[in-house]
Amino acid sequence: MLDKCQIIDLPKISDPRGNLTFIEGGGRNVPFDIKRVYYLYDVPGGAERGGHGHKALHQLIIAMSGSFDVVLDDGNEKKRVHLNRSYYGLYVCPMIWRELDNFSSGSVCMVLASNLYDEEDYYRDYDSFIKAARGGN
Ligand code: TYD
Repeated sequence: MLDKCQIIDLPKISDPRGNLTFIEGGGRNVPFDIKRVYYLYDVPGGAERGGHGHKALHQLIIAMSGSFDVVLDDGNEKKRVHLNRSYYGLYVCPMIWRELDNFSSGSVCMVLASNLYDEEDYYRDYDSFIKAARGGN
């Protein structure tokens, strides 16, 4: 499952006046249709975000500014991904527990999501997530 969670190289138009990256819907740059965008900012040093899994949500996580780490866990293995470029997006498929830490000062984490906010789609409890991930439901 974790091999599905890959860095996506977003289009980058380099220009001496400043670079430009774009993300289009309709499955063009990301493997899902974008229904929601949210971002984390003013994250205090040492803080951790995430700490949950999603049943059906697909997400793309981008370090718009600064850097942070995303720890992905599919119930069998874990990997830590360092994000520090605004033209890289980390695709996170459903049924992945994720934790975000190591935020640099002034960093901004933008997340594109395949659906509207729905608390019912969350696993907030790690043991329930593991049970579902290993049991396949
Ligand atoms: P949560 O997803 O737990 O944050 P993170 O994964 O970044 O640590 O959400 C934190 C709170 O914000 C929670 O009360 C739900 C609310 N929230 C919304 O209302 N809409 C949203 O789109 C998101 C992502 C969160």
